[in-house]
Amino acid sequence: MELPATDSGGWTFRAETVTKTYDNGATLANDALTIEVAPGEVYGLLGPNGAGKTTFVKQVIGLLKPTSGSIRLGPYDLVADPDVARQLCSYLPQAQMPIDGFKSREAIDIAGQIRGGPAAAVRSRRDELIDALQIGEWRDTLGARLSGGVRRLVGFVMVSVWPGKVVILDEPTNDVDPLRRRLMWEQIRRLGEEGTAVFLVTHNVLEAEKSVDRLAIISEGRLIAEGTPSSLKASDRGKLRLQLMLAPGRPTPELPGLVRDHRRVGNNLVMMIDEADAGAGIAWSQQVVGSGAAEEYALGAATLEDVYIRLTGHTSEQPDGS
Ligand SMILES: Nc1ncnc2c1ncn2[C@@H]1O[C@H](COP(=O)(O)OP(=O)(O)OP(=O)(O)O)[C@@H](O)[C@H]1O
Ligand SMILES: [Mg+2]
Repeated sequence: MELPATDSGGWTFRAETVTKTYDNGATLANDALTIEVAPGEVYGLLGPNGAGKTTFVKQVIGLLKPTSGSIRLGPYDLVADPDVARQLCSYLPQAQMPIDGFKSREAIDIAGQIRGGPAAAVRSRRDELIDALQIGEWRDTLGARLSGGVRRLVGFVMVSVWPGKVVILDEPTNDVDPLRRRLMWEQIRRLGEEGTAVFLVTHNVLEAEKSVDRLAIISEGRLIAEGTPSSLKASDRGKLRLQLMLAPGRPTPELPGLVRDHRRVGNNLVMMIDEADAGAGIAWSQQVVGSGAAEEYALGAATLEDVYIRLTGHTSEQPDGS
């Protein structure tokens, strides 16, 4: 099919009041989601397990049909025309790419050519991305023999070697080591800089905070917050996070009144306090460390993770925490 050339401004992606139910309406997976992503924007979709993130992206690329609502990219109605959706959107699924029988290099070249990239240009960009992500030693390895993390990196190269107007990444950094995760984020940013709209699903709030232009937090299918990382943190201005690394196996110490909110994951106790209580918070922490109940403490600005946890309701102690 012939697609009209994009004007230099590119196309805006717009999903409007997208609702999706499963099981004849018994499960409401997406509840009237409205999301707009501009060309060149890296947009994060964050939310706990089962929030409806994968359901949403599957509708964008035409794998599922919304129960109601519309999804448009520039002049196209992606719901009415799922073939166009697949043609215009590159998709890295949460499940691994089925590339068992191909060498990494071949899988990438095929993906680029299917998207319409000229062979030589695809090869040269493939080599550039393989270098940038430091996966050169696996370029001739069969998919079936790749480790989980490298397989995901190869999948990422497959979708970004000749990207569509929108690149959709569902948990792209899963299984990837910290160094290569950082390299992957650089390439995700670069896709945006080159004018692609990037739609990114992730659980990794701390990494997303550094890499996305805007994000939405969804919970139980509903959009509960949206904005830039710093605008979302605005409501936590004046708050600090006080963190105590408890000695292994120690119970949570009795908390002073200045602690507004707390959560514990393993031996890590995170508390939110007011800026005005910083001195008292440090004095108390030093006392806890001095008693041997904790090994160290740290005081810093509230992070996007603190906002996320407050909004999605994960404020109490984790089951593994005591
Ligand atoms: N094919 C399906 N049939 C019925 N229910 C489904 C189906 N796929 C997903 N669901 C349900 O829809 C809801 C949203 O699931 P979805 O996979 O979109 O969540 P998610 O945000 O991607 O979660 P995760 O972070 O675990 O990947 C969940 O309640 C899930 O059980
Ligand atoms: Mg998912």
